[in-house]
Amino acid sequence: MSSRVLTAVAWPYANGPRHIGHVSGFGVPSDVFSRYMRMSGNEVLMVSGTDEFGTPIQVQAEQEGLTAKELANKYNRVIVEDLHGLGLSYDLFTRTTTKNHERVTQDMFTALYNNGYVVAKKGMGAVSPSTGRTLPDRYIEGTCPICGYDGARGDQCDNCGNQLDPIELKNPRSRINGETPKFVETEHFYLDLPALADEVGRWLDTRTDWRPNVLKFSQNLLKDLHPRAITRDLDWGIPIPLDGWRDQPMKRIYVWFDAVIGYLSASIEWAYRSGDPNAWKKWWNDPEAKSYYFMGKDNIVFHSVIWPSMLLGESGRGAKGGTPGRFGTLNLPTELVSSEYLTMSGSKFSTSRKTVIYVTDFLKEFGPDALRYYIAVAGPENSDSDFTWDEFVRRNNTELANEWGNLVSRSISMAHKNVGAIPTAGDLLPADRELLSAIQGGFGTVGDLLGKNRFKNSITEVMRLAGLTNRYLSETEPWKLKEDPVRRDTILHTVLQAVTDINTMMTPFLPHASQKVFESLGGSGVWAQQPEIRTVSEEGNSDYPVLTGDYAAEQATWAHRPIVPGTPLAKPTPLFPKLDDSLGQTGPAWAPIAK
Ligand code: MF3
Ligand code: ZN
Repeated sequence: MSSRVLTAVAWPYANGPRHIGHVSGFGVPSDVFSRYMRMSGNEVLMVSGTDEFGTPIQVQAEQEGLTAKELANKYNRVIVEDLHGLGLSYDLFTRTTTKNHERVTQDMFTALYNNGYVVAKKGMGAVSPSTGRTLPDRYIEGTCPICGYDGARGDQCDNCGNQLDPIELKNPRSRINGETPKFVETEHFYLDLPALADEVGRWLDTRTDWRPNVLKFSQNLLKDLHPRAITRDLDWGIPIPLDGWRDQPMKRIYVWFDAVIGYLSASIEWAYRSGDPNAWKKWWNDPEAKSYYFMGKDNIVFHSVIWPSMLLGESGRGAKGGTPGRFGTLNLPTELVSSEYLTMSGSKFSTSRKTVIYVTDFLKEFGPDALRYYIAVAGPENSDSDFTWDEFVRRNNTELANEWGNLVSRSISMAHKNVGAIPTAGDLLPADRELLSAIQGGFGTVGDLLGKNRFKNSITEVMRLAGLTNRYLSETEPWKLKEDPVRRDTILHTVLQAVTDINTMMTPFLPHASQKVFESLGGSGVWAQQPEIRTVSEEGNSDYPVLTGDYAAEQATWAHRPIVPGTPLAKPTPLFPKLDDSLGQTGPAWAPIAK
């Protein structure tokens, strides 16, 4: 059954290069899912971009002595390269500082405002007593009023994941100089979440197949909803599209409000770049289309409550009624796929704590598929998981290189040496049939697991099939059958058929290696498509790089493919080099293990 699938991937802040913790949460899982969905015949639209407004960018810009825009330009490019290197197959990876995104954000704001779900209200804002300047939320730290965690920030508590207002913090202090902020009256726009809560609640009640903890967490948030400020006293953000506000230099739209709109604005940008400006509607207005949102667990509230509220309010589907804005009635998320944290020896990945493994360094030394495999099999899918070099080396050597790489190279080499082409099979024995039917069964079992975003279980099942094939080879010992070439060729044919199908199932996880295996087996052309970096332009903006790709042109489909006897075989090149065991003890020079 084919349908339209929107893969909406959380937008990384353009405030630094990506480390492997970032890409294990939002990056690799969303790509494995999208590749599988395309292979099984769905029309996938995968979008994201860099998140470039607000304090996270300003803070880093100050540290690097750059303007916010210069900093965003710098890290947008770095991140595009990181994600390109990993082979993440975005239809469009763009950024939030485009004119298109500004327009779409302002139109969402206006639609919500016209329907009465965005209202102006006077509230209290934090000011530094010593300088008189506004203190951004992230510059304020204190005790979380909900869970009691002492390191909560003014915008959010990283311990319980709740979104906060700085004034709610107990014992608030400035992170710049420790002083207690002064709260003064300031006027802002608020999203009237209470007026949308019933509708969000009714929708959440239908999400019975979500992970229970994500659903419970979201339903709990609804019990105590207040209007949330969606503008801020700062100069780095999208202007408020109302007379009297538009030109105020220190009033801007809050970064989280514009960031989630990115999913929609990126879809719109993709559509006009593809030559059909209305094409985005097929993923957003057709109720049959599905949408999967990928993020780390600290992003859940924005995707399960705030973004759905915005989508409902835009089209007047809340307690105050209203009419749809120019985007029409927009689909609510089908599913949230949230991940836990990747830690390194116990500490949450963070640049400040110096336990950082950057994607770019990792790719240079080990290539994309070793990392993709590790994340799929040992990533933070259901619980926090700890990255260790020891475990990385072990998984790479014993699983990827021994179980899979070795199977590919010895089976193809044997056939290449003895026949030079895919051998013809004689009569199949029960053992041959048994293997082939076990492998073919994988398309169903692994496919079901991938459709449910169970990455660990699905890659483990594919590896089990590789193990079965290895056992079949050791048991049938074709290398001893010089005197019986018909039986030998039957075995080699059976193994190459198994390798072909397992390679298909490996494709979402290991798109680079699967292309090589496809070619070694005599295939030509693009099996698994990779993204490309393109420079694009836009009126009123400077040129910028995006990630995009022509994925419809790839040959990979999620199905058994009968091999064709006589197809010439190439001598296989090594797929996954074995790593030196000592790496597990020392780590690489650029990320040594602290003693
Ligand atoms: N930039 C945010 C973070 O890194 C994620 C934004 S997700 C979006 O935590 F959907 F809002 F874009
Ligand atoms: Zn908390």
